[in-house]
Amino acid sequence: MTTVESSPTAAGSGANATEAFRSAQHEVTDVSPERISAVVRGVLQGVHSAIREHKVTYPEFQAAKAWLIEVGEGGEWPLFLDVFVEHVVEEVTSEAQQGSKGTILGPYYLPNAKPLAAEATLPMRDDEQGTPLVFAGQVRDIDGTPLGGAEIDIWQADSEGYYSGFAPHLPEGNLRGVVTTDEEGRFEIRTIQPAPYQIPTDGPTGKLITAAGWHPWRPAHLHLIVRAPGHRPITTQLYFAGGEYLESDVAEAVKPELVLDPQDQGDGTLRSTYDFELERA
Ligand code: DHB
Ligand code: FE
Repeated sequence: MTTVESSPTAAGSGANATEAFRSAQHEVTDVSPERISAVVRGVLQGVHSAIREHKVTYPEFQAAKAWLIEVGEGGEWPLFLDVFVEHVVEEVTSEAQQGSKGTILGPYYLPNAKPLAAEATLPMRDDEQGTPLVFAGQVRDIDGTPLGGAEIDIWQADSEGYYSGFAPHLPEGNLRGVVTTDEEGRFEIRTIQPAPYQIPTDGPTGKLITAAGWHPWRPAHLHLIVRAPGHRPITTQLYFAGGEYLESDVAEAVKPELVLDPQDQGDGTLRSTYDFELERA
């Protein structure tokens, strides 16, 4: 850990995640009153039935209000919603999709990461800690055609579980990059094995998790958005076989198809391959 001033806090990463969300382009679609009514009514019915089932008291209702205010003031809505809600939105979205499995985006994507060639090392500190990892593979159409010039937009936590851009002690762009595949759709990325990620425990989301007796961990993962012209981009994450919290991800975003099994190359470097299949847009 670094000094107190420069170490990541819930307030810091929450505010940064809120800022990143606001500055991303979010398409505003025309939503009908019927749709709004149906969805909001469904949400409220869920809340009402929990209150009835558990006979929620006035002090508990006031505590909930105070907590909701704190989540907003701490900028933690992106963290809370991405951990506890996004996986179901992804589940219903992916029902009709073909190609490689996707999963949640999470709050820590930043656009415009450094462009990199098909064989590349992610930007990292000279003394970056963590087991070296080579992640290689091919991007193809679902009919098997290799997709040269596809983009692998990759971001990950470091060996302490922190993301650059959201933790003040990390250099900008650390462990983030946009790799372009070669003519055969292939890529080979050198990086380090990320650590499991812990939801910041000093903010309202973390306090709720502690108060409920849950654990605040996500298993170690690589984040990826894979894009190719004329194809539907895939937002996904890849996990590591045997890793901690694989069976109990607080964000419920693990799928069996997304678990890598890296092998030691005999020199302390892990290597894993994964091929992506994209459907036409
Ligand atoms: C959160 C963090 C992640 O790294 C992730 O992949 C998903 C969610 C979060 O803190 O909300
Ligand atoms: Fe993550």
